[in-house]
Amino acid sequence: MRKSTQTDLFGHPIPSNLQQNNRSRAALDRIDADPTIHQKLLNYCRLTVGQVWQDSVKGHRVGVLDATNTEDVLRITADDRPSLLINDPPYNVAVGNANTNNLSKRELSAYMDFSRRWVENCIRVMGDNAHFYVWLGADVRDNFQPLPDFMIMMREYPQLAPRNFITLRNQRGYGTQRNWMWVRQELLHYIQGDPDFTVQYTDIPKILRGYYKNVNGKLTENLERSKSNNIRPGNVWVDIQQVFYRLEENVPGCYAQKPLKAIERLVQSSSKTGDSVLDCFSHSGTTLIAGERLGRRVITFDIDPVFTEITIRRLEHYRKTGKTGWQWHNPFPEMEGVYDAGTTA
Ligand SMILES: C[S@@+](CC[C@H](N)C(=O)[O-])C[C@H]1O[C@@H](n2cnc3c(N)ncnc32)[C@H](O)[C@@H]1O
Repeated sequence: MRKSTQTDLFGHPIPSNLQQNNRSRAALDRIDADPTIHQKLLNYCRLTVGQVWQDSVKGHRVGVLDATNTEDVLRITADDRPSLLINDPPYNVAVGNANTNNLSKRELSAYMDFSRRWVENCIRVMGDNAHFYVWLGADVRDNFQPLPDFMIMMREYPQLAPRNFITLRNQRGYGTQRNWMWVRQELLHYIQGDPDFTVQYTDIPKILRGYYKNVNGKLTENLERSKSNNIRPGNVWVDIQQVFYRLEENVPGCYAQKPLKAIERLVQSSSKTGDSVLDCFSHSGTTLIAGERLGRRVITFDIDPVFTEITIRRLEHYRKTGKTGWQWHNPFPEMEGVYDAGTTA
């Protein structure tokens, strides 16, 4: 049997039945790791480097810009002062053993320089009362960088106060036989000022009873006193499926897509209808779709015209079909001779 060569975020082999971009299932392989496909897709991009697309329907903005470039960030945010910033930068790991332009691994000092620059640009444009979320990873094969380095770096910016440290627990993982299964994704939460926060609930019913308390002379148990029959997500999220090819929200070609449910939870808890939300690392456009569905104006960009194009197409596709992704169909149907699982028996 042929051995799998696909690896996860940390370079560990992924069993073939868990691989996301298997050609027999998805229409488009991982774009950032395939220069030929990437070059071809550039022909179908409406924006070139430096350009911004303005949505005439709901006022979203999507650009091909660089998060470390102050002028770029000031230009796309214009007069907006976002009250919610959701950023999912490259994690400084050679993702799937491919050190690509989009998801690259570099010297830690260079990565920290990159981090300082984009964080400072966000600080320049964010609202006085705002939430600031960052997805990041800890590479166990390289002394857990860059997560602790990033957390320590953030102490240089006292205007951003640490608020929480969330772990999203994936259902799938690796290392089940010889190690604790690696199932975590980390999300750092900071705030500037005193932004509003709306409590969220999961779909998971409360199952533990019997915390008794005397209320107005009557002995009540916890379920009677609850505001909801369901548990809150807390800071360990166990109710979110990671994105893979069988889900409607899957965007073929995008290797680092975040689950829409996770981003919607951030939007619902940490912003209000009509607010603007900034995401400097758009990729598959998850934040844009979340904002579209929840009535927020999203300002987002990616350094790569291909991912910016996918971001805009995903919004257009959603408006046309109500679908949040392409599952295993190709977001670029104009590509000649491409395999499209949706049209093949
Ligand atoms: C981890 S992905 C973001 C995934 C996204 N949250 C989603 O759900 O699809 C990181 C993205 O950042 C982009 N990127 C890398 N360096 C950048 C920079 N300096 N400015 C803007 N985007 C950048 C990459 O092209 C890649 O698409």
